[in-house]
Amino acid sequence: MAVEERDPVSGRPTTGHEWNGIKELDTPVPRGVLMFIIVTHVWALLWWILMPTWPMVTTYTKGILGIDQRQSVEQDLTAAQAERAAWMKAIETESFEQIQSNEDLMRVVRSTGRQLFGDNCAACHGADGKGRANYPDLTDDDWLWGGEVEQIAETMRLGINSRHQNTRVAQMPAFGRDAILDRTQVANVATFVQSLSNPSVTTPENGPQVQAGREIFLTTCAACHGEDGKGNREVGAPNLTDQYWVYGGDLQTLINTIHGGRQGHMPTWDERLTPAEIKILALYVNSLAAAKP
Ligand code: HEC
Ligand code: HEC
Repeated sequence: MAVEERDPVSGRPTTGHEWNGIKELDTPVPRGVLMFIIVTHVWALLWWILMPTWPMVTTYTKGILGIDQRQSVEQDLTAAQAERAAWMKAIETESFEQIQSNEDLMRVVRSTGRQLFGDNCAACHGADGKGRANYPDLTDDDWLWGGEVEQIAETMRLGINSRHQNTRVAQMPAFGRDAILDRTQVANVATFVQSLSNPSVTTPENGPQVQAGREIFLTTCAACHGEDGKGNREVGAPNLTDQYWVYGGDLQTLINTIHGGRQGHMPTWDERLTPAEIKILALYVNSLAAAKP
């Protein structure tokens, strides 16, 4: 078999294998492919020596460079924690004004605040804080209890009609159901309330009703909502002269509100959030309203 056979066409030696009369040429592996195989093998060998590679029973080969991903993750985490601790401490100790005038801290407030708001408040107030029926919009400049950072923090700490012992109490009496006013009186005062924000409600025909409603308002409602209907933040009574409504400003909703009363419920966050988190959220909610043109 040692006889070397050459292909008559190309002049190359053959391997001596033959399939159906076709003979295989003995062509060497192309140089490029060979180089590639050598380089990858050398690379693999170097890698085994330098880097952590082979798993053993209880440990693994560590490599002479001593690179440890777990260690570097731990270092990153420690660095992140140190950074977090630094701004947490600043937020805990500095006053609202100091934080507000520090753009770096406010950046933290906006990103952390958005996250905290999403986790704790969005279910009722909406992800954007704009609220919905029965849950107030926190991005407008109309406040039941006040929109200063300090006031927002206080509302969060105490809650509204909550189980906190010093809770803010919002009690809009049920004038119809408790028979303080009869049906006509409720309808009249509702029409009057509507006319406060929308003067076109008053027509020559319903003038006397609006007037009658006004008198009821002054004797029955003004104690909480003010003679001018602009509300009172001491008792959480909303401004009835603007376009912002918690429950709704159409006649039927107004009649329902006055007939059945309203006692909105907002939980206390005193035990559920840390003081620093309450501060961040108060600043965040305040910034939502301030950001609006
Ligand atoms: C279970 C529903 C609910 C959740 C959750 C909730 N709120 Fe409220 N919140 C309310 C209701 C209802 C009111 C209005 C109460 C009323 O009618 O007086 C309110 C009122 C407020 C007010 C007062 C607004 C004003 O005009 O003065 C602020 C501020 C506020 N919420 C902030 C928050 C923040 C911040 C969170 C998250 C930590 C949050 N709320 C979570 C239901 C909720
Ligand atoms: C004891 C104080 C008090 C009196 C008196 C009172 N209100 Fe209210 N009213 C409130 C409070 C507090 C709220 C907010 C309730 C809540 O959201 O929890 C409110 C809410 C309302 C709302 C809902 C506003 C909105 O944004 O949807 C209307 C309307 C209203 N009152 C009308 C009246 C009228 C009309 C009278 C008189 C017949 C009256 N109130 C008497 C305290 C009072």
